[in-house]
Amino acid sequence: MRKVVLAYSGGLDTSVAIPWLASQGYEVVAVGVDVGQPGDLGAAVARAETLGAVEARAVDARARFVETSLLPALAWNGLYQGRYPLVSALSRPLIAQVLVDVARETGATAVAHGCTGKGNDQVRFEVGLGALAPDLEVLAPVRDWGMSREQTVAYARERDLPIATTKDSPYSVDENLWGRSIECGALEDPWVSPQPDAFELTVDPAEVGAEPIEVDVRFEQGVPTGVGGEDHSPQNAIAAMGKIAGAYGFGRVDMIEDRVVGIKSREVYEAPAALALIAAHADLESLTLERELAAEKRRLEPVWADLVYKGLWFSPLREALDAFVALSQRSVTGDVRLRLTPGGCQPIARRSDVALYDDALATYTDQDSFDHGDAAGFVRLWGLPTRRWAKVQNRK
Ligand code: ARG
Repeated sequence: MRKVVLAYSGGLDTSVAIPWLASQGYEVVAVGVDVGQPGDLGAAVARAETLGAVEARAVDARARFVETSLLPALAWNGLYQGRYPLVSALSRPLIAQVLVDVARETGATAVAHGCTGKGNDQVRFEVGLGALAPDLEVLAPVRDWGMSREQTVAYARERDLPIATTKDSPYSVDENLWGRSIECGALEDPWVSPQPDAFELTVDPAEVGAEPIEVDVRFEQGVPTGVGGEDHSPQNAIAAMGKIAGAYGFGRVDMIEDRVVGIKSREVYEAPAALALIAAHADLESLTLERELAAEKRRLEPVWADLVYKGLWFSPLREALDAFVALSQRSVTGDVRLRLTPGGCQPIARRSDVALYDDALATYTDQDSFDHGDAAGFVRLWGLPTRRWAKVQNRK
């Protein structure tokens, strides 16, 4: 019998996908990949077997996710369309990789995901799978069966499937260590503001009772290694930053986004850890990156974010860009002090042993070592082309 490895989340769609794939003549191996989403993945995976999977397993990919996906995203200050920290886009390539690993191990000839035909995630999975394992058949049951939400529920009811009866979220949510994506339901109307029940990681800024605080974030070669004066692994630094910033109601994004398939969609995110760390990291770069490198990096940042958003993780350009960013991060070591206010997070101080800021050059006091005579000559030469041009123009 043909065997398929299914990316299984424990939600309605991928649960129904198990008996559906079985009815198409497949043995289903269900894989739940832990990228830091909440909930009991072990219990969900156990349910997959009662749904008819021949095998079900949970794979803890959190450490790998941090190392291979989140640290590069932070190094790039990665934001799609200047605002979205790529939460869901970052997890798909890794999940694709896990699916391929399990397929190789179990001798499966196909892999399956539960994405619909309208989103970006199908693109990310399938382009990724095509690069990693072009020989594997890729199935997209949810896209192919053409069932509405109501029909899917009815399918499960008729067969008495043990679907998790946890609170039926009015939204479509995807969460991992980098944040939370919230779409659908009432949010489909861009003129309807998000209701409090959309958020889990951030409190309403209007409801922050606390006084502003200052939090120091430590980076070593672009990697976060301390928050609030405590040393952390990168994964714990992300978690600690998320808790603090979320409690101040920082990290919400509400935007109209351009999807790969061409439609505009209303997207709501909360990513307190990602957005606070990016603010701190970008600030430290302003202190430690040489001017021309910094300028080129800023030019490339949206290029990287676009590639990742559009599902081109496994592309030579992404690899080459990541080699560039790795070199750039060698000098991104130091501390940034963030000030958190209700709904806000501002860098207010920074220091580094490898700071390029030089007091003696910058100061306006009598400690000044900057050569003002050099400046006069420099300005004359700098303006030479413009002076020459203006002279010729004036002659006409
Ligand atoms: N629009 C976002 C993206 O493409 C979020 C996707 C969230 N996925 C989901 N299944 N709810 O990255």
